[in-house]
Amino acid sequence: MTQPYQSRRQRHQKKRKTNSWLSFLPVGGLFLIGTIYAINSLINDLTPQPEEAGATVSSKLLSDKEQATRSLLKQLADQKWLKSQNYSTEEQTFLIDNQNNEDDLGLLFSHFPKENAPDIVTGKEVSEDFSDSLTRVYYDFSSYTWNEEKHAFDRADSNSGEAHFVKKDTKRLPVITDFFSDDTELMHSHFLIQQEILNNSKDGSAILDQVLAKAPFKTSELTVTKVNDMGIQVKLAQPVGDVSTVLFPWAEFAYYLNPKTVSINYFPKSSNKQVALTFDDGPLPGTTKKLLTILKEEQVPATFFVLGSQAQLYPEVLQEIISDGHVIGNHSFDHKNLTELTADAVKLEMQETDKVVYNATGQLPRYIRPPYGAMKESIAKTLDQPLIHWNIDTEDWKKGKAETIVDTINNQLEDHSVILLHDIHETSVDAVQPLIHSLKEQGYEFTTINTIFEGPRSRTQYFGGSREINVF
Ligand code: NI
Repeated sequence: MTQPYQSRRQRHQKKRKTNSWLSFLPVGGLFLIGTIYAINSLINDLTPQPEEAGATVSSKLLSDKEQATRSLLKQLADQKWLKSQNYSTEEQTFLIDNQNNEDDLGLLFSHFPKENAPDIVTGKEVSEDFSDSLTRVYYDFSSYTWNEEKHAFDRADSNSGEAHFVKKDTKRLPVITDFFSDDTELMHSHFLIQQEILNNSKDGSAILDQVLAKAPFKTSELTVTKVNDMGIQVKLAQPVGDVSTVLFPWAEFAYYLNPKTVSINYFPKSSNKQVALTFDDGPLPGTTKKLLTILKEEQVPATFFVLGSQAQLYPEVLQEIISDGHVIGNHSFDHKNLTELTADAVKLEMQETDKVVYNATGQLPRYIRPPYGAMKESIAKTLDQPLIHWNIDTEDWKKGKAETIVDTINNQLEDHSVILLHDIHETSVDAVQPLIHSLKEQGYEFTTINTIFEGPRSRTQYFGGSREINVF
């Protein structure tokens, strides 16, 4: 086990922030690969060879800069910083501890742009576990820039390069079936992929219909092109609109990946004493906005299962929900009992709401909560998002008093509870603050469904608490 992913990423981001020069690093892979085999190790050059009687003479003919380069290399070699060296007199040069094969090196360096390069970059490879089967590899770099006035190299601080992930056994880039062992497993994350395609488009609204209509991807349609601290970068066989490359962020996809490749143990776990407040049937400006003010004051995140018909009327409330850091789910367009509709009609209900929410906020609803909790297997199988129910029904719509609502919750409270409330009733909203105080006093933290809900998601109904998961 290594440290949790989050902290590594934070550490990494911090490094990147303070060392922004690295993003201007030069040339990289292709040039490097080309020269690796073309140019002999400098150390060999530095070793006096009998047949090179004129070596001393010819070294005097070298420029100061080249001599300085060679002397620098010798120093690094003496310090055992480099196990082997590759050196080019071209303007931009990498010196690296070359333990990998050329494919890995090409991968490691392919992201460096060509501008504003230092003259020399030295580096050594560092490897650490990311998961049981993935290794996180990065290079510790130092850069040197020639100072013409001093006739010497200026050395910049050391930096870490972008990390890349390779398979432990093969030292190669993982392939898509390492992460999703088959098409069914991939299908479970389809709604997340849809969102990422929209995120990567210049104009998500323009391709929204196409994205929503896209049949779940097959593993044969996706090629992994890079795996790094952000996630898995994938190339689509057929572009969707203007999008041909998509990043699957770890934070979003962790629970949908093959645990043999990336165990969820490598991601931060939610603590037990957490509950999720969920609010249905809104938005309704008066009560929803009042609720948002309370949640902001209490610093409590929540999940809002909105109706498309209401969302259409109040897009600005949806925007406020998202900008306050809450999560939006889909509660159908106009609150029909979905079990009485055809699968096609249900799909339409859901997609109409998807569109309204996306066009207002740039995000698709994350989950579906069927009205009345009514669902059947034949319908559930056609839906992309996970189905989220509740384990505590406050019956706030019929219980007028805040005190009664708080008591109802306290009587049924358990870890990871999903609490059902409605943001369209004044009395429900009035109950929220006392309810938050009561739960906080008992040591509970509030979170969104995203944090509480773990495990294989699609074709799943999640209830929270001990009534956890029901897989179709
Ligand atoms: Ni409802």
